[in-house]
Amino acid sequence: MKRSEVNMRIREMEELIGKVGFNLPDFLSFTPEEWQQKGHEYDEIRDNMLGWDVTDYGEGDWEKLGNTLITLRNGNVHDPKYTKSYAEKLCRNIEGQISPMHFHWNKMEDIINRGGGNLLVKLYCANEDNSMNMEKEVEVCSDGRRYMVPAGTEIRLTPGQSVTLYPYYYHEIRVEPGTKEVLIGEVSMCNDDNTDNCFLKELGRFPAIEEDEPAYRLLCNEYPEAKD
Ligand SMILES: [Fe+2]
Repeated sequence: MKRSEVNMRIREMEELIGKVGFNLPDFLSFTPEEWQQKGHEYDEIRDNMLGWDVTDYGEGDWEKLGNTLITLRNGNVHDPKYTKSYAEKLCRNIEGQISPMHFHWNKMEDIINRGGGNLLVKLYCANEDNSMNMEKEVEVCSDGRRYMVPAGTEIRLTPGQSVTLYPYYYHEIRVEPGTKEVLIGEVSMCNDDNTDNCFLKELGRFPAIEEDEPAYRLLCNEYPEAKD
């Protein structure tokens, strides 16, 4: 991805967050220059890769297959120093864009419509061998209500609504056509996105960035070492 597009996607998400009335913690607005001056007091951000994450999964078409994501909080499955057992994220998806079909072996997560348009979440069960089960009914757990749906059903979430995704639940997320964009919340178990995502189709994680203009914000894999 070009840095100019990464910058643009971050600004668009800031705008949506403002519109919805959500507020972000301070570290999300540090400039790259400010990060150069930060010491070990911000180790938790660097070590747990909190912050901005813009990806096109290495496929070069963010508007179809992409995500802009903020990790607000997370523990660290590799470092016992961090005992947080929960995580919270925010994403922005636009109409026409797909968060591709995947499941998690370990992570249980709630996907929440925090505001904007409507969200469609397509659900299947995963088999033991990671393949998709095209027949098995899926139990939907949504805001305290449980019910069964046929495999491949798309659950519709209007602002405020959420669905709980257990491990081995295949899910694909998109914005309902005609409703423009959605601010998506994710409240989940502490997780490692590098090892706990099983995509139906193999995808890249962090795109290579072409530096065509200065960075507006650093991404969560770009922080410099602590100053002191
Ligand atoms: Fe997921």
